[in-house]
Amino acid sequence: MTSQTSRFRERSEIEKQLGIAEEIAEDNRSRGLCGDCAPGYFIRTFGCQQNEADSELLAGLCEAMGYVPRSDPEEAKLILVNTCAIREHAEKKALSVIGSFKHIKDRDPSVVIGVGGCMASEDHRAQTLKMSYPYVDFVFDTGSAYALPSLVRDALGGSRRFMKSDGLIFEGLPTVREKTHSVWLSVMYGCNNFCSYCIVPYVRGRERSRRPEDVIEEAKRLVDGGAKSITLLGQNVNSYGKDSDFDCDIAELMHRICAIDGDFDLRFMTSHPKDASDELIDVIAEEEKVVKHFHLPVQSGSDRILEKMNRRYDRNRYLSVVDRLRKRVPDVTLTSDIIVGFPSETEEDFLDTLDLMRRVRFDMIFSFIYSPRVGTPAAKMEPAVPREVSAERMERLLALGTALSEERNRRFVGRTMRVLADEVSRTDPGMLTGRGSPARPVHFAGGDDLIGKFINVKITDSGAFWIAGETEEEKKAQ
Ligand code: 5AD
Ligand code: SF4
Repeated sequence: MTSQTSRFRERSEIEKQLGIAEEIAEDNRSRGLCGDCAPGYFIRTFGCQQNEADSELLAGLCEAMGYVPRSDPEEAKLILVNTCAIREHAEKKALSVIGSFKHIKDRDPSVVIGVGGCMASEDHRAQTLKMSYPYVDFVFDTGSAYALPSLVRDALGGSRRFMKSDGLIFEGLPTVREKTHSVWLSVMYGCNNFCSYCIVPYVRGRERSRRPEDVIEEAKRLVDGGAKSITLLGQNVNSYGKDSDFDCDIAELMHRICAIDGDFDLRFMTSHPKDASDELIDVIAEEEKVVKHFHLPVQSGSDRILEKMNRRYDRNRYLSVVDRLRKRVPDVTLTSDIIVGFPSETEEDFLDTLDLMRRVRFDMIFSFIYSPRVGTPAAKMEPAVPREVSAERMERLLALGTALSEERNRRFVGRTMRVLADEVSRTDPGMLTGRGSPARPVHFAGGDDLIGKFINVKITDSGAFWIAGETEEEKKAQ
């Protein structure tokens, strides 16, 4: 454990950045670049919820510098790409998007382009960006987001920078959240688990928990600002507080957040099965505000592969956590992540995974073909599973996962569920998509005036990846 003071970035450093942001904003204003003429910023985000949360912080800093949001990069004077490194595909996509911005810089050299996030935190990728993407003005790792104003100021002055941080937690920066009714709340950063396939501990560093009082204060502000759904974020939220000397674990933190006055629900992700404590299961069971959903990545159903993955549990231990959870929260929605084609995975190992899926009956599986990551132990493991074998296993896994999801979702038909109207459906503008409890995407007819409100929806139909229903109003109109 490190001492409490050294885990946090000094307030003076944060204030210095806010001061630079104000200088940039003032400079823009003095040149008439404000109001309708304010310069635009565009952020493209790849990857997980943590990256989305980081981008909201970057957006807050952009606005402190006097930039206004633009949905088209062609109209922006500041372009940021927040990258992901979890699989090769994510990195290739980010590099291709960064490549697609070159013509903007060619056309207008005063446009500033910055690349941050997990891929930018890998030394070999930072090197690639340095050598092959000369029009990128700055590259910054995940812990350097707080320094965006100084990076932008230096870029405007013509200097190129590559910033790597010491990983200190920063508090007190402005954040612009994409939605005010449904929000991310980071409680910790980094991961100590070193699963052998995973790049996260290398790019996001060791576990660092925010102080409970800072998290609770932020949760209160969010609820006061209209938040109806708060999702606590961390690479492994079950470890919350273990790196610190304050006496508050994730279960206690959730109890304290639930005690905040207001009508909101509370979610959390992601968990590690080895740390899924009885106290955490109790919180899900006992606290009305906590959504009855547990995302508990299993990764494989084979003990041999789990050991090679350095997951530090076996299938029996996983099944016993599921057992405890289902006893305490019978209606829980259980989702998971599974990797296929991990080095040396045999047909028998894979069948163990399918068998575990059948036993658990997951509500939803997020499945991934193993992707070797430079610098991780698994990248040196052999033999690699041929691509076509992984692809064929993936198809079988998806078929089983879909059948299980379909079966699980049917239990909701006929129920009335309290749903938070979250957004207008992407495919049908007359429909809304909501977040139910237990968490499922719920589709129902409604206008955007309902967004951010809790609505009772009578579930009438279900598929593998959705459930649908009607509101009281809709019923009356029939
Ligand atoms: N290859 C494939 N999937 C991976 N994940 C993490 N690292 C890799 C990798 N190298 C998956 C895990 C994790 C999810 C977020 O991404 O299943 O839970
Ligand atoms: Fe990666 Fe494992 Fe940490 Fe999850 S728990 S972020 S899979 S190292």
